[in-house]
Amino acid sequence: MTKIFVAGSTGYIGKNVVKYALDNGFDVVTAKRHSDNKPGQLNKKLKVIKISNNDNNWIADLEKVDVIISCLASRTGEPKDAHLVDYKLNCLLLEKAKALKCSQFILLSAICVQKPRLAFQFEKLAFEEELKKSGLNFSIVRPTAYFKSLSGQIENIKKGKPYVYFGDGQITQCNPISEKDLSLYILSCIKDKTKWRKILPIGGPKQSITPKDIGKILFEIFEVSPKYKSFPTKLLDAIRLLLLIISPFSNWAKNKSELIKIAKYYATESMLIWDEKKECYDANMTPSTGKDTLRDYFYSIKNLDLQLEIDRDSKLY
Ligand SMILES: NC(=O)c1ccc[n+]([C@@H]2O[C@H](COP(=O)([O-])OP(=O)(O)OC[C@H]3O[C@@H](n4cnc5c(N)ncnc54)[C@H](OP(=O)(O)O)[C@@H]3O)[C@@H](O)[C@H]2O)c1
Repeated sequence: MTKIFVAGSTGYIGKNVVKYALDNGFDVVTAKRHSDNKPGQLNKKLKVIKISNNDNNWIADLEKVDVIISCLASRTGEPKDAHLVDYKLNCLLLEKAKALKCSQFILLSAICVQKPRLAFQFEKLAFEEELKKSGLNFSIVRPTAYFKSLSGQIENIKKGKPYVYFGDGQITQCNPISEKDLSLYILSCIKDKTKWRKILPIGGPKQSITPKDIGKILFEIFEVSPKYKSFPTKLLDAIRLLLLIISPFSNWAKNKSELIKIAKYYATESMLIWDEKKECYDANMTPSTGKDTLRDYFYSIKNLDLQLEIDRDSKLY
């Protein structure tokens, strides 16, 4: 059976890639910077390496594996960390993949690198170039928005607070993908030769929704009367300008200004394929996979809430 190493196995996508790889019978090796306090090794097909504090030597010590899947990503998106993780750490992994004569290197990237403007996007693209010219068989997976990134306002909605968006709530669109569908797609790159030596943009089942649509779905599912609050995107420009003015004197302001730039990017750019010729985003051109819809995901969160309520109430009697 193919043995794979999953880097970034403690992240949102990485941990799902590990779960579905084990479900599908792969032998899996991972590395962790911190302990999750789970007792012992739960699965005989899983080997976990402990990374000692901020030490990259763990890559040098990696044992023979057939395929490396990198779900590594900077936790902050700040320029220095993005360079260290999205570029440098991935380069070290690639060198190791070459030394181990791996049959494939699968990279989790992002669809937004097609229109790069942010530091982390340039770091990802720089590594994609290294991978393409490495001579190794590669698959570069560029997903659309994740469900988790579209769920941040659920708690506010439940408390009766308004759903917040920029402009008219319809500046951007996306075709979101669940962590399960994306993980299965990533793993399918191992056997599916049509996904070898390719850049693979990928979204969830065909749908194209705006932030305002997401608000509507949330109000319907959580049975709260709709309330919206809109902010102009120029507000983000104004905050960034203020931060840039003090940036030469403050690293904090410099890093925050990059984060505001990231927020502006996602408030104004769709997570779909960019059609160069027509100069617009195109939902129909965006490849799709899987079955999970954002609506079903929100329902599953509501059902979980209801179950927790039932469990709590049953303890009272
Ligand atoms: N959010 C979205 O909607 C979206 C959409 C499309 C694409 N993407 C892309 O998807 C990718 C992965 O996203 P995600 O949400 O799964 O990421 P995540 O949850 O932030 O996980 C990042 C992983 O990288 C590891 N890591 C970070 N710095 C490290 C270091 N110095 N040494 C060792 N490990 C390190 C983390 O380990 P620790 O647990 O130890 O920190 C974690 O396992 C990113 O490239 C992102 O750009 C995101």
